[in-house]
Amino acid sequence: MARTNFKKHIVCIGAGYVGGPTMAMIAARCPEYAVIVVDINPERIAAWQTDCLPIYEPGLLELVRESLGRNLFFSTDINANIHKADIIFVSVNTPTKTYGEGAGKAADLQYWEKTARTILQVSDSNKIIIEKSTLPVRTAHAMERILNANEKGLHFEVLSNPEFLAEGSAVADLEKPDRVLIGSRETESGLKARAEIVDIYAHWVAPERILTSNLWSAELSKLVANAFLAQRISSINSISALCEKTEASVREVALAIGTDSRIGSKFLNASVGFGGSCFKKDILNLVYICEHYGLHEVARYWESVVMMNDYQQQRFVTNMIKVMFNTVADKRIVLLGFAFKANTSDTRESPSIFVARKLLGEHARLVISDPQALDNARIDLQDCTQRIEFSEDPYAAAHKAHAIAIMTEWDIYRDLDYERIFNHMEKPAFIFDGRNILDHEKLFNIGFNVFSIGKPPLKHF
Ligand SMILES: NC(=O)c1ccc[n+]([C@@H]2O[C@H](COP(=O)([O-])OP(=O)(O)OC[C@H]3O[C@@H](n4cnc5c(N)ncnc54)[C@H](O)[C@@H]3O)[C@@H](O)[C@H]2O)c1
Repeated sequence: MARTNFKKHIVCIGAGYVGGPTMAMIAARCPEYAVIVVDINPERIAAWQTDCLPIYEPGLLELVRESLGRNLFFSTDINANIHKADIIFVSVNTPTKTYGEGAGKAADLQYWEKTARTILQVSDSNKIIIEKSTLPVRTAHAMERILNANEKGLHFEVLSNPEFLAEGSAVADLEKPDRVLIGSRETESGLKARAEIVDIYAHWVAPERILTSNLWSAELSKLVANAFLAQRISSINSISALCEKTEASVREVALAIGTDSRIGSKFLNASVGFGGSCFKKDILNLVYICEHYGLHEVARYWESVVMMNDYQQQRFVTNMIKVMFNTVADKRIVLLGFAFKANTSDTRESPSIFVARKLLGEHARLVISDPQALDNARIDLQDCTQRIEFSEDPYAAAHKAHAIAIMTEWDIYRDLDYERIFNHMEKPAFIFDGRNILDHEKLFNIGFNVFSIGKPPLKHF
């Protein structure tokens, strides 16, 4: 029989890429807590309770199954669950604003504020409210003002516990996080709430990896972490352009600089550019905040990280068109990979979207292949599907193709039989390795014209 006497009720608002996996981990490691994930999207809530989860992450299905129906529940009944919650994690989406003041840069906090008002409306007991979403620094202040201006005599303690998981390795990251960060007010009630949240993570995370801070440092640290990660990618991508002009190899440069322990080797792979729902929006948000405080030079500095990423994507597709004799009209071009990175079905802000649209604008015929992201690709390109084929099979996709572009670093693309692919392609056959994952010499010897990132091309003409 299902247990009913739980120590506490944790509710998570938002059953997305963050809310689902983080709550599945908390439920698995803290069986004495009831963990209920709520969302306004009934299809998402239904899918979390099937074998076909709404998102793909290695190991996630097993993790969810461990606790589903025991102490992990998914529900669309937002009000009733908020009402009985002791602790509420808010992990709704915080996209870039597309309208009004701050459009194109500031975070759109409408979903955020709605949850605050719902919490206020349906609560009749004190609660701890935790910001899990990535938010502009000082959002907690606004949250406190909305929540604590109530006439019910209730107290809501607002904490910031930003999520650092990376899509594609979410379960492993949650299992063994580099750190968990919990920010609170440094008042008696703030410190008490902080200790309660520390206690949850302490079930499986070593104490030295649980960092505590003031609220504003926790909020800002998440934006800064994403800005620094994206900055490394833009830095090495900027150098890839210089390598192509000078016959240096960006792989060799990355190895040479990355072995310096002060620099480190991670996030130094040159590529067609970063994607994902977070990097661009969080940096633009940081830029907007800096402008708000009159720090224009700081704003321009971080904005250039996004501009370099746009340049890299543009450079990649412009080069494709140029080397294919300045026209791709009616040519069959295969995009291998549509997800923004390997091991995820997520295509948000994927460079593939930009590249696909540019090629379609040049009247190419596209074939899009991906092991997990084709459903999302169909949605992303739904306004222009006439010239697009979708195929899970890379060999069928490459049949009679003029060119292949590697867009996602899926392992399966490293080990394809490229000789077989070459034999069925139109000649001259082109391959554009947007992730630098292939053996370029080998492909050249098969007969391909090979264009990678940050290395001179290998051409037969
Ligand atoms: N995706 C990542 O890798 C990642 C990593 C760290 C942090 N974050 C941050 O976490 C937050 C969530 O990101 P995500 O990728 O999980 O987003 P998501 O879009 O996958 O999920 C958000 C969910 O919130 C739901 N929602 C929106 N308004 C709601 C409301 N009023 N009541 C109930 N549910 C509501 C949506 O229906 C959606 O299912 C964002 O702020 C993001 O920046 C994301």
